[in-house]
Amino acid sequence: MSQHLQFPNLHILDHPLILHKLTHTRKIGTSTKTFRALLKEISLLMGYEITRRLPLTHERIETPLQVMEDAPVIDGKKVGVIPILRAGQGMADGLLELMPSARVGHIGLYRDHDTQRPVEYLVKLPDVEGRLFIVTDPMLATGHSASYALDVLNKRGVPDENIRLMALVGTPEGVGVLLKEHPKVAVYIAALDDGLNENAYILPGLGDAGDRLFGTK
Ligand code: URA
Repeated sequence: MSQHLQFPNLHILDHPLILHKLTHTRKIGTSTKTFRALLKEISLLMGYEITRRLPLTHERIETPLQVMEDAPVIDGKKVGVIPILRAGQGMADGLLELMPSARVGHIGLYRDHDTQRPVEYLVKLPDVEGRLFIVTDPMLATGHSASYALDVLNKRGVPDENIRLMALVGTPEGVGVLLKEHPKVAVYIAALDDGLNENAYILPGLGDAGDRLFGTK
């Protein structure tokens, strides 16, 4: 994992397995089936790192051989996984494999073509009190959708300290916008790309993550 000098809350999960799989997701010839599988695998690997500091408590259990007084188990409420629809679902699937009991909320946003700003069409969240949330969206492009989703959680009473943002690819612009508006959110990406084109697509990027994940055009 590497840290970024300009953005102390940005964590770049540049594990060789993640980077290798990311390269395959970027390739124009990668099929929908393979893209979906890779996104899930990358999310699992990223999720392993993102959940590294989940609090532990201890409980008394019996092994087949003896009583163990202080067996570690994860403390507190189940984690909440919040995909930003559509493409965030592809990353949520990997996290759910890691944490099958996680609660799942959805935030549906689409990007207005003229303003390139997010428009909300669905918000459905689990009980938020005292819960840690991982918000997923593969492409941290302008940062506006991610920032909007975090605003939604803040308005429901979730502080930034209880939110992790998990993306596949980010841009300096997107990370800058997000961390300016939500400086205390920990942001995890696999790669920081060069920037945006005139249509706010990430360069080099991987194209439209939703289309690649679902096989739409
Ligand atoms: N959303 C995508 O799916 N791809 C981009 O490059 C930017 C935003």
